[in-house]
Amino acid sequence: MASRQKLIIDTDPGQDDAVAMLLAFASPELDILGITTVAGNVPLALTQENARKICDLAGCVDMPVFAGADEPLARRLVTAEHVHGSTGLDGPVLPPPTTPLQEAHAVDFLIDTIRSEDNGSVTIAPIGPLTNIAMALRKAPDIAERIGQIVMMGGGYFEGGNITPAAEFNIYVDPQAAAEVFAAGVPITMMPLDVTHKAMTTAARTAAIRAIGSKTAIAVADMLEFYERFDEEKYGSDGGPLHDPCTIAWMLEPEIFSGRHCNVEIETGSDLTMGMTVVDWWQVTDRPHNAFVVGDLDADAFFRLITDRLARLP
Ligand code: BDR
Ligand code: CA
Repeated sequence: MASRQKLIIDTDPGQDDAVAMLLAFASPELDILGITTVAGNVPLALTQENARKICDLAGCVDMPVFAGADEPLARRLVTAEHVHGSTGLDGPVLPPPTTPLQEAHAVDFLIDTIRSEDNGSVTIAPIGPLTNIAMALRKAPDIAERIGQIVMMGGGYFEGGNITPAAEFNIYVDPQAAAEVFAAGVPITMMPLDVTHKAMTTAARTAAIRAIGSKTAIAVADMLEFYERFDEEKYGSDGGPLHDPCTIAWMLEPEIFSGRHCNVEIETGSDLTMGMTVVDWWQVTDRPHNAFVVGDLDADAFFRLITDRLARLP
C-alpha cells in the first residue's frame, strides 16, 4: 500500500460527523493522528464527549481526542439541536465514554503536530465550524505552508443555505474563521451543500448498513434514522444528506466526486447573507482560485464505500 495519509479530523459530532469518523477509523489508507473538537452542532462539552463515544464504538479507545474552541471567533454560538437532538448524537443509546480527553487544547495539538510532522504531510478535515483551524493559523501563521491540505465540509452556492437562505451551518456559525481559513493560502477541497444534498441516506441505504448486523452498524443505522427525520419533514426527501463523510470519502476515492477550482469568498459583513460562500463557479472574476469546489458525486459508489468500510468495525 502507498504510504498512509496523515489526517486530523476537526469535528462537532453530530451523527454525520460520527459516520465520517467511523469511515476514517475503518480505512487503513488513513493514519489518524487525532480528533479535535469544536463547538457547533451542540456546545463543546457535548461535542468532545460525543467524539469520545464514537471512538469507543469503533474500539479506538487510544485515539487522542482534544477539546478546542467553545465559541466562534467573534459571534455568539448558534447550535443545531433541532437537527441532531439535545445530545447532538441522538438515536442510539451510547454509554459514557472511556476514551480519555487529552489535556492539551485542540489548537495547540494542531500547531504542534503540523510543525513536527513532515512538511506538507498532514491533511486536516474540518467538518464543523472552522474556529479551531483559524485559531491555529492566527497563533502560528507558519503552519499555513506546512499543512498538506484542508478537506472541509461547508458552504453552498446553487443550493443556497440550510441555516439561513444564504448560509450553510458550519460557515454561518463562524464566518470570520471561515474567511481567515480561505484566505490562508492552504490548498482547500470544499464539500458544499451542492454535493452533500446528493448524498441522501434513503431507507434502502440505511437498511443495508443495519443489515451488517454489528454493534457499530446498528448504532449508525439508529443515528441515521433519527437524523433523517428532520430533512424528511423539511424537504419531503427519502432520507437526509450525509454531509460530513464526503470529506473522508474524497480522500479515499476522489474519482467518485467531480468539481472545479474556483475562488471562494465568505460574507462577514451583511446580516442578510452572513456566512454565505460566494463561489465563482463560472469564473466571472479574476479573483485567484483558493479552493477545489466539489459539485457532484456518484451517490451509489459513496454509500457502497461507507457500507463496505463500516462492515470492518466491531
Ligand atoms: C453541516 O452542519 C452540521 O449540522 C452537520 O454536521 C454538517 O457538518 C451541514 O450543514
Ligand atoms: Ca459537522
